[in-house]
This record gives sequence, C-alpha cells and structure tokens, in this order.
Amino acid sequence: MVKFNIALDGPAGAGKSTVARLVAKELGFVYVDTGSMYRAVTWKIIQLGLRTDDTPAIVTAAQNLKLELKPGDNGQQVFVDGVDVTSLIRSAEINANVSQVSQIPEIRQRLTDIQKNLATGKGIVMDGRDIGTKVLPDAEVKVFLTASARRRAERRYKEAPDSAMTLDELEADITRRDRMDAERELSPLRKAEDAVRLDTTELALDEVVQAVLQLCRTKVNGGK
Ligand code: DC
Repeated sequence: MVKFNIALDGPAGAGKSTVARLVAKELGFVYVDTGSMYRAVTWKIIQLGLRTDDTPAIVTAAQNLKLELKPGDNGQQVFVDGVDVTSLIRSAEINANVSQVSQIPEIRQRLTDIQKNLATGKGIVMDGRDIGTKVLPDAEVKVFLTASARRRAERRYKEAPDSAMTLDELEADITRRDRMDAERELSPLRKAEDAVRLDTTELALDEVVQAVLQLCRTKVNGGK
C-alpha cells in the first residue's frame, strides 16, 4: 500500500482530532495529535510549580522531560516521564495556559523536531496548527478545517456538558485562543497555500471524514 502523510490544521474545536482519528483508522495510518504534546509540556510545567512566564525554567524542564505517544484504540495516549497524562491534559487549567507555553520558540522547535521525525516513515495523520505550513510542508494531503466559533463551542459543550463553563464562556474562550494562536509571531495559525479549506459548521462528522478521504483519493489515490 502506498503510504502518504496528511496534515490537518485549524482552530480549536473545528473537529480536527475526531476527524484525524477516524481518517487514520480508515486508512490504517497512525494518528498524531500535536496539540497533546503542547498540553503535555504545559502539564509538566504546572506540576513543577513553574510560572508560565518563566521561560528559561520552562525550556530547561521541557528539555529534560520524556514525552511518549502511544496509539490506542480510542486515539492517542500521552505519557510524560512515564505518567499517563492523556485525560489530565484536557483540564481547564491546561486550556488556560497552553497557548502561552506554545509561543516559546525553544518549545516549538523541540516539538516540531519530534513531529517531523514521527512522520518520516509516512502513513501519518497529524493534526495541529502549523502542520501544513511548518512541520510537514511536503505532506501529500493538506486540509484546513474551520467552523464558526459558536458551533465549535457547542461541540465542546456537548463533549463535556458538566464543565464549569457555560456555552457563552466556552465561545469566548475559543475566540480568545483563536486570537492568540493566529496573532503569535512564531508559526501562527494560518492555512497553507496548498491546503484545502473545509468549513464544517453545517457538516456532520461522517461528511467531513468522507470529504477528507475523497481528497486523499483525488490527490494520492487513497493509499491503495
Ligand atoms: O489542538 P489543541 O487545542 O489540543 O491545542 C492546544 C494548544 O496547543 C493550542 O492553544 C494551540 C497549541 N498548538 C500549537 O501551537 N501548535 C500545534 N501544532 C498544536 C497545538
């Protein structure tokens, strides 16, 4: 089977991780969630009691931590220094701090190197913010997923209805993170010129997955 790489970028809550996981399953590829790597580093920083503006200490901590990704049946599991942090990295505290941590050049460089390495053997579906532009500029298939902020907030709300945030607060949080991700100097969130934009506001999950698979067939004959 011909293997190729798929880069899936877009703002928070556009459905990237679910779509990436299902597309990977369909093609027999490995799914890599790069957001979880930034979250894992943020988790360690908070564990160590470091302030998120203490860049030198953060960089040292990130250089020393051992980050492992293991593909599992329900997506990817993340381990930091041997601790399974898969569910711990989805907390409101991590949400509030991860954008700031992901703006540190040394952190981006370290994680980008790991991500590039993971993709050398092809057969990877990687999702994030800068995959099509920076991490895998040569990916055979590039998709930029978007949806309205309201729709993305609704999806987050459905995933965790008992979260401490109301729908309006979730929407405001998503808008705030979009702005930070898009305005940062280093690897801002933007569509690669050769990426296909897919607005999922009015699409069901299966329709999005089918659209990406169709794109794979068009671009690289779907791995067959
Ligand atoms: O996709 P996510 O919400 O899990 O991402 C968490 C944060 O990490 C988000 O604020 C953007 C950042 N991120 C990034 O800067 N570059 C990536 N490739 C992936 C995520």
